[in-house]
Amino acid sequence: METHEIRERFTQHFVKAGHEAVPSASLILDDPNLLFVNAGMVPFKPYFLGQQNPPFPNGTATSIQKCVRTLDIEEVGITTRHNTFFQMAGNFSFGQYFKEGAITHAWALLTGSLEEGGFGLDPQRLWVTVYLDDDEAANIWHEKIGVPKERIQRLGMEDNYWSMGIPGPCGPCSEIYYDRGPEYGAEGGPVADDNRYMELWNLVFMQNERGEGIGKNNYEILGPLPKKNIDTGLGIERVACILQGVDNVYETDLLRPVIIEAEKLTGSKYGEGVAHEDNIRFRVIADHSRTGMMLILDGVTPGNEGRGYILRRLLRRISRSAKLLGATEPTMERFMNTIMDAMTPSYPEIADNRERIIRVAVNEEKAFLKTLESGTKLFDEAVGELKATSRAKTPKVLSGSKAFELHDTYGFPIDLTLEMAHEAGLDVDMKGFDAAMNEQRSRAKADNRAKKHGHTDLSLYREWVDNDPTVFTGYDELSSASKVIGLVRDGQKVNEVHEGEHVEVILDQSPLYAESGGQVADHGRIVAGDTLLEVGDVQKIGKRLWVHKATVTSGGLDLGSSVEAIVDEKWRHGAVQAHSATHLIHAALRQVLGPTAVQAGSLNRPGYLRFDFNYTEQLTPQQLQEIATITNQAVDADLEVTTIETTLDKAKSMGAMALFGENYGSQVRVVEIGGPFSIELCGGTHVKHSSQIGPVSVLGESSVGSGARRIEAYSGLDAFRYYSKETALVEGVSRELKVQSTDLPERVSSLAEKLKAAEKEIESLRNAQLAARAAELIASAQDVNGFKVVALQLPQGTAGGDLRTIATDVRNRLREQDAVVLLGAVSNGKFPFIAAATPSAVERGVKAGDIVKQFGQYVDGRGGGKADMAQGSGANAAGAESGFAAVKDGLSKLAAR
Ligand code: ALA
Repeated sequence: METHEIRERFTQHFVKAGHEAVPSASLILDDPNLLFVNAGMVPFKPYFLGQQNPPFPNGTATSIQKCVRTLDIEEVGITTRHNTFFQMAGNFSFGQYFKEGAITHAWALLTGSLEEGGFGLDPQRLWVTVYLDDDEAANIWHEKIGVPKERIQRLGMEDNYWSMGIPGPCGPCSEIYYDRGPEYGAEGGPVADDNRYMELWNLVFMQNERGEGIGKNNYEILGPLPKKNIDTGLGIERVACILQGVDNVYETDLLRPVIIEAEKLTGSKYGEGVAHEDNIRFRVIADHSRTGMMLILDGVTPGNEGRGYILRRLLRRISRSAKLLGATEPTMERFMNTIMDAMTPSYPEIADNRERIIRVAVNEEKAFLKTLESGTKLFDEAVGELKATSRAKTPKVLSGSKAFELHDTYGFPIDLTLEMAHEAGLDVDMKGFDAAMNEQRSRAKADNRAKKHGHTDLSLYREWVDNDPTVFTGYDELSSASKVIGLVRDGQKVNEVHEGEHVEVILDQSPLYAESGGQVADHGRIVAGDTLLEVGDVQKIGKRLWVHKATVTSGGLDLGSSVEAIVDEKWRHGAVQAHSATHLIHAALRQVLGPTAVQAGSLNRPGYLRFDFNYTEQLTPQQLQEIATITNQAVDADLEVTTIETTLDKAKSMGAMALFGENYGSQVRVVEIGGPFSIELCGGTHVKHSSQIGPVSVLGESSVGSGARRIEAYSGLDAFRYYSKETALVEGVSRELKVQSTDLPERVSSLAEKLKAAEKEIESLRNAQLAARAAELIASAQDVNGFKVVALQLPQGTAGGDLRTIATDVRNRLREQDAVVLLGAVSNGKFPFIAAATPSAVERGVKAGDIVKQFGQYVDGRGGGKADMAQGSGANAAGAESGFAAVKDGLSKLAAR
């Protein structure tokens, strides 16, 4: 069935059931938190949240929404099911039907016959998952729909609780999977293998609102939504993959033509018997061509940031893959034409945009092929140099920094460099490359932190940044008289703000520190008469404009008002202590580890600091101790802190440490603590004398990615609190163990030894006990027509493992005879049982496996195993006696034969 038909059947199914068919929204919606629309429900968000009434006559709708998810871009072509662009078909109920309705609709479409308009999937192949405690959904699946219990699995929040990943509607969900058969992976349902069991449809029971948080399970549930809603998402390309009987989502009717075109253009072959890497490249071309085309259709152009960067990355991956497959000429135009032909029937608007789409994509290809050329030149030069300078026998290695330059300046993906190096008979210093990448990444991260405005439109602030930058007065005073030069509410400039609103205030001068250089923003207040605003965050825009994020707690404020901006002194004191402590630790670290330990990032907030540095080895406890000692000695020495404004060159000649890659202006600020002890370029706020830092307690060090390590510490009163807590803990343990704290280590290790010895003793006593039991049992053995039979119930609580030990022991002791053992016992509310037979009994036709099967019938249980040993478990011990009798009866008949 063609994809277009799958779409049509979906829509018709829900339109027939009264849903309003809503066209797909653009991939780019006005939500600053979302790069691209990534789920069908995104355009309906205000209806779920109750902010707007859904404009659909029956309160239900259906859509097939264009979606882009690029988080999994590395997975494309490797797994069988990751598309960066996909079409999510959904049905939505806003306070109308709920779980039962959603489940019934979905099942009817998936399993309905082709004649009836369904997809005709075999119900036996469908599995479902529900959220852990969602008995209601599990019951509907089992009782209403008739899905056997074995094919209903329960999963936790990570899998079966859905939200957009940001604050908004959320709820438990139920997913429907299709079993593609043993050639795709292990048996056992979706929990065992999500490649074999392909997720098709997610039914979200949208009933709560989530707050801030990260990850799939680390956020607060704020409370129920006004109504119970349904949001579902069926992956059209996955259904196509199943209904078209192809191996993966890249080979369906819409993408296959691109693969075929790529075969023609590159001269390489796709499919079985082809190198795995090459197949991946074909799939990347197909997937990315479509995503790139659809993004350009919706107005994205290639660039170096945000959406533009993603498009650029996709298009470059296409060009590079084509090249690696052997393309010698540009390919983009033909890929774009092919994918547009395939997609136009579903997206007729493509027809009017063909020329523009080709122009944008082809220009990007040209640009890349050009840098590819100059990059190749750089590469060839480097290779020439290497060959000229290194001796014949030593392996030649392209440096990590060259590989990085190729990546950074020429947009060379590293695998391209690797491939080229390989052809030239070279290795690449990957360690050096990774280190350079990490450095860049931590720079980018620091940069991101500094502008939390990531997604908002910074052009809003442009005028102020250019004309009215803020004067920072906070080095010298904690309270300043200021004028309000800008007010922003909900991303809009406004002239006044009122009580209860969350706003952004821009002042002509401010003593509040804006987050930067690792130091968190000041908390504080903005006051004018009876008006009070509480400031919880301050961000710098364009390095010049201070934006105060504040809540108006009383009164109101007009543009142009005169106000008093006041720093929360306690907060600042804590932040300053942590920041100065960071400088001391940095200095101490370099004394202990040498100058190669270069700062990679830091965080200073009141009472706590963390300092990342490039260093490949783990620090020893001695080194850490030494660093802590030097730091606290520097505190104790009451070193003076001075700041100087000077030129960058002058600062460097003074020996100031500058952060690699940091973009310093012509005038820089140097912070010295105790003259040569610590000299750093720094815009942060600091104590005046080192003793004001108070104690610094180093908590430890850890690894943060390759080549970088992290030290964490408390400063000031928090260091004291930390020590107090540790001391109390040690005192408590000493008291409990009744020894002096200095004797604790010895006492603990002697206790651990004693415990081990005691456990050993218990084990041997138990074994002796079990052996004694075995002897008793043998004494009670009955003779059943020549079989020695031990068949009885052991005392309650005898665990399954013990049953096995005893049965094995009894059998071994009777191994010279025709003996059969059958034991059972009530344990943890169940009735485990085990049967064993000696070799000669087996020869006479006894099968332990059959015995447990027979016995199981009497105790409501099941079991199985081999002829000499088998086990099972039942639910009803009351039938045990009749079971034993039946087994003996069976044996007597066997013996009689
Ligand atoms: N909104 C749900 C999803 O994206 C259906 O999986």
